[in-house]
Amino acid sequence: MRDYAKLQKDIQRTLGIDLSAYKEQQMRRRINQWLDRHRLTSYDELIQTIVRDQTHREKFVEYLTINTSSFFRDKRVFDVIEDTVLPAVSRQRRPRIWSAGASIGAEIYSIAILMKEARFTPGLLLATDIDEAVLEKAKAGVFLPSHINGMDAKYLDRYFARTPEGNWAVSESIKSLVTFRTHDLLKDPYESHFDLILCRNVFIYFTSETQKRLITNFVQSLNPSGYFIVGSAEQIMDPGSFGLQRVSYCIYQKPEKGGQSCEKEAGPRHR
Ligand SMILES: C[S@@+](CC[C@H](N)C(=O)[O-])C[C@H]1O[C@@H](n2cnc3c(N)ncnc32)[C@H](O)[C@@H]1O
Repeated sequence: MRDYAKLQKDIQRTLGIDLSAYKEQQMRRRINQWLDRHRLTSYDELIQTIVRDQTHREKFVEYLTINTSSFFRDKRVFDVIEDTVLPAVSRQRRPRIWSAGASIGAEIYSIAILMKEARFTPGLLLATDIDEAVLEKAKAGVFLPSHINGMDAKYLDRYFARTPEGNWAVSESIKSLVTFRTHDLLKDPYESHFDLILCRNVFIYFTSETQKRLITNFVQSLNPSGYFIVGSAEQIMDPGSFGLQRVSYCIYQKPEKGGQSCEKEAGPRHR
């Protein structure tokens, strides 16, 4: 019998990742698949390999934290971001925007492209992740064709250059807008005064208790009238209990100080 409790402690000690906040069944399954794939026979052997072999360690963290992402992921949500959210947050000031669990940066670069197109100037475009290696990729800004699949061709023309290997390098004019930082949502302090926070396709891996704790932190980090966006499979069942109101799909808003009202419910585009 594999000792998962001991593995949790060993992972915390060697990688600083708190596995107890993640859904156990899902994590066990993934780790066991990793052992099979690398012909490791026990959790102890995995830890020994992680300690000894830096490449194995980096690949394991990347695998464990699941970095799947792409530009304009979930177009329905990005339509509302473009039509409703960015104009609202850019109306009075230069907005502070945070992509938490940003992975390769495709999400924050998509926001940067929309802001550039609308001539909105960001106060801050912050992208954070627990995985340093994936943030290095984000900063490099070179993407596989699969990452930009389905993106509007005009954005590709304006903001990307083809590399000799057939990948796509995002332009300096977009890259320079974004600040990248390592941040563990489970243990690091949260910055505040954000007008928009995106934490998409990250919650699904956490236990429901952890999800609640993180949503509470995010709401505290939002300015009044600020927006909070989760993944389409991560809808918040009782937004009111966190002081949020639903705007559309998986998009929520913190009411104005002392007020209840939000932007009118944003529906699908009719164009
Ligand atoms: C599936 S990706 C989501 C990327 C992007 N938000 C999107 O929706 O396309 C999940 C990201 O969450 C990050 N992550 C997992 N646990 C985290 C934690 N405790 N703190 C910060 N980021 C975490 C992973 O490293 C990974 O890059």
